[in-house]
Amino acid sequence: MKPITILAAVAFLKVTLASPLVARATCTNIEGIYRNDCGTIGVSESTCSSGGCCWNPSTDGSPWCYYPDPISFSRPTPPDQDAITSWASSQYTYSLSAMMNNLSPAGSKTGCVVAAQSQTNPQYYYHWSRDGALTMYAITLQYINAIKSGDVTLQSTYATLVKNWISFEYGLQSITNPTVSITGNMQDNVGEPKFNIDGTAYTGSWGRPQNDGPGLRTRTIVKFLRAYVPNTGDTSYASSLYNMISRDMSYVVRHYADVCTSGTPCVDLWEERSDSHFYTDMSQRRGLKEGAYYMNTWGSNSTLASQYLSVASALEPRVDAHWMDSLSYYKEMLDVSDRNSPDAAIILSSIQSRDETDPFVSPSSDKMLSSAYRYATQFRGHFQINKDRMAYAPAVGRYLEDVYNGGDGVNNNGAGAWLLAINAVAELHYVAAAEFKIAGQASVTAINQPIFAYYGVNATPGSVLTGSQLSTLITNIFGEGDSYLDTLQYHMGSEQDMTEQFNPVTGYRQGAKHLTWSYASFITAIEARNTFLAL
Ligand code: NOJ
Ligand code: NOJ
Repeated sequence: MKPITILAAVAFLKVTLASPLVARATCTNIEGIYRNDCGTIGVSESTCSSGGCCWNPSTDGSPWCYYPDPISFSRPTPPDQDAITSWASSQYTYSLSAMMNNLSPAGSKTGCVVAAQSQTNPQYYYHWSRDGALTMYAITLQYINAIKSGDVTLQSTYATLVKNWISFEYGLQSITNPTVSITGNMQDNVGEPKFNIDGTAYTGSWGRPQNDGPGLRTRTIVKFLRAYVPNTGDTSYASSLYNMISRDMSYVVRHYADVCTSGTPCVDLWEERSDSHFYTDMSQRRGLKEGAYYMNTWGSNSTLASQYLSVASALEPRVDAHWMDSLSYYKEMLDVSDRNSPDAAIILSSIQSRDETDPFVSPSSDKMLSSAYRYATQFRGHFQINKDRMAYAPAVGRYLEDVYNGGDGVNNNGAGAWLLAINAVAELHYVAAAEFKIAGQASVTAINQPIFAYYGVNATPGSVLTGSQLSTLITNIFGEGDSYLDTLQYHMGSEQDMTEQFNPVTGYRQGAKHLTWSYASFITAIEARNTFLAL
């Protein structure tokens, strides 16, 4: 409990004024989740509550009086937009080149995407299905940009890179691997998460299968084809991918409802737990939607398309089941009690699953905005680097209970902030701002009302924001994205190389060097930012 100060008195006033907007759920007590202490307002339940704060003594009986969220946090002041644009432009160029440096590196089979340059402490010199698909999505965006700018040389460069990756992945579909030993079905080899760089199976022990791979792969391939075929007229290339896509999608159809026990484990994107995963469900659903588009457009198989769409629909209630009304966020896993904090995986799934024509759980949806707020703000007091910079957007990590320090053998302060998570939060805000702008309105619900208030717009559930209120909302949500890039820039310092993490205490780089996904996530975030600015 901190001594009462002028600041606490000011905060008291602020909370008192804002309290009519505090939703019931904002006083939830979740063990282990960071809360902003209310100061000496908390000596007893009555003084705490009368100060507009939440009273939930900790399990050891000590009083715990904390600010209700989200009202109690003021937004960081967004940085100068042009300053971010200028820094980001140079960082983008560097990121693209460093990312491409990790495609088909020396000693690998063409099309391989190494997860990082790091070959010891940690050994990340492997091809991961997930990292590869997300990286090639960022390359696909380069291909699309080259079409827009009419640069045929670049179009050919990027198309070749994507096709090489597709061939590499197709090769992997023909070999057996340890996932096959688990399920006993050779067709299930597409659930394997990690491969040697020469295109052979990685046979060491690992968390497998990881069921996000097939959906992520299909999403990237179809994104590419949607641009490539109209640009080149080459429908035969698209048709030639039928076996590849149907194998991935059949895997999803077979496994989306797995119970995730020993015979059919379902390991998460963080490669740690077998459970029912929000991220996996969302990536499967997006893959199925894209797979259905493929089957209707180039695969000449409307029966399969219908099957994929019906499984995609069946995934929706499964995704919805992760929403925790009392917590006001989506939980990544359902069946665990020791991992309750909102997880970066939620943010990643929303930005990676969105589609202009399919708003399901998209960044501007009330539940996702609420989840993003709760996920990001929980890091405000979690790392020393954030305690030192409370006026700024926090550097965010995977989830609060994380202990993985990136395995570099040097940094011993535990799990740090993840660059790809900071990028993802920025991207989510850019996309949300764009969605509201395109919609031309925003519906206020009980769920997003406190979030809108955080963005400076006080409104009643049931009302619809337009005009200046909508503009304020959009400007401030976009500004929030920039605040996260500002934090990224701060910790990047004058260097441009991207590792996996920032040390939680010193803020210096830790974990795998030149992590491909860190670069890819920066690129997609900037693309989302540019898309908004061009609206
Ligand atoms: C390596 C995994 O890739 C990472 O996600 C995980 O946290 C650690 N292993 C746990 O040791
Ligand atoms: C560990 C991360 O948890 C996982 O998501 C990733 O695929 C691997 N590292 C490789 O980058």
